[in-house]
Amino acid sequence: MKRMLSGIKPTGQLHLGNYIGALRHFVESQDEFEMFAFIANLHCITVPQDPAELQKNLRDCVALYLACGLDPKKATIFLQTDVPAHAQLGYIMCCHTYLGELNRMTQFKDKQAHGETNLSGGLYTYPSLMAADILLYDADYVPVGDDQKQHVELTRDLAIRMNNRYGDLFKVPEPLIAKTGARIMSLSDPSKKMSKSDETNKGCIYLLDTEKQARKKVMSAVTDSLANVHFDPENQPGIANLMQIMSSLQNDRPFGEIEQEFAGRGYGDFKRAVADEVCAKLNEIQGRYNEILASDVIETTLKDGAAKAGVIASAKLAKVQKAIGMEIVSK
Ligand code: TYM
Repeated sequence: MKRMLSGIKPTGQLHLGNYIGALRHFVESQDEFEMFAFIANLHCITVPQDPAELQKNLRDCVALYLACGLDPKKATIFLQTDVPAHAQLGYIMCCHTYLGELNRMTQFKDKQAHGETNLSGGLYTYPSLMAADILLYDADYVPVGDDQKQHVELTRDLAIRMNNRYGDLFKVPEPLIAKTGARIMSLSDPSKKMSKSDETNKGCIYLLDTEKQARKKVMSAVTDSLANVHFDPENQPGIANLMQIMSSLQNDRPFGEIEQEFAGRGYGDFKRAVADEVCAKLNEIQGRYNEILASDVIETTLKDGAAKAGVIASAKLAKVQKAIGMEIVSK
């Protein structure tokens, strides 16, 4: 069985972009692949966090993994810090990453370009830790949204570099980026990615938004004056984004079918239909989320997940340290 691994940072609340671009693919893949889904709590502290808020977000993140349909009997679900090999291999990967490579990473460059100050060393070296996350498990595939492609490509380069230097250590993973929904845009500014750091709180639909909040955000989504539901991301980015959302929530329904259904109808009708689809999905997720919070399934899931992941990760770390010559091998 091929292995798949991915993670989400519990920085703020999970949103519809996380669900459509990543989480739904974890769920779809858990029958066909050996799925490892973790909560990237080392990655999230690369930017300042409020401790109380972070703790809540961590619980919510696990609860939402489960509420979206990840099944702990099929997938290995764990917290990154429960498997210390992530930080250990992360450091080793960092020592094998060139500054030039880190300088090319667009996420860090974007933050710098926006004039953000006091950026941390952890944020800069984050892609090396992400490589460790993936390589520890010899993952064949990494399902991610479009914004993570560059990081998975760096992971491949690092795996190849270390394999050449030390012998066959790592499987070279492949990013899996879906054709539809890999970059859901902000509803209030369709030139920007939907993101947890949305200051206006109008462009991002959180998985725990109330129906009223979510509906309002969809109904006030920025569109255009062409009055034609047509998939043209360049000239009609707002409508194209809503079409991506609708298509993704309707099992990747072809855009042509959506265009036909709404031909000659106004944007109001179309937005209402998108809002219905979004609210139905949120209702389904939130119903399960509340049941999960009331049970002890989070604790048992994380305990079992860490035990299973830990065995694989420590064996890989030991192999790497030995290959590098970092361990005293008994005579
Ligand atoms: P994070 O937490 O920013 O995002 C989690 C996943 O959601 C996807 N995503 C989106 N997809 C579509 N539209 C959007 N607007 C959108 N916003 C986010 C992301 O592409 C991602 O797949 N570095 C990762 C976490 C990570 C990881 C890993 C992932 C750490 N180690 C190892 C895979 C493998 C991150 O920050 O994702």
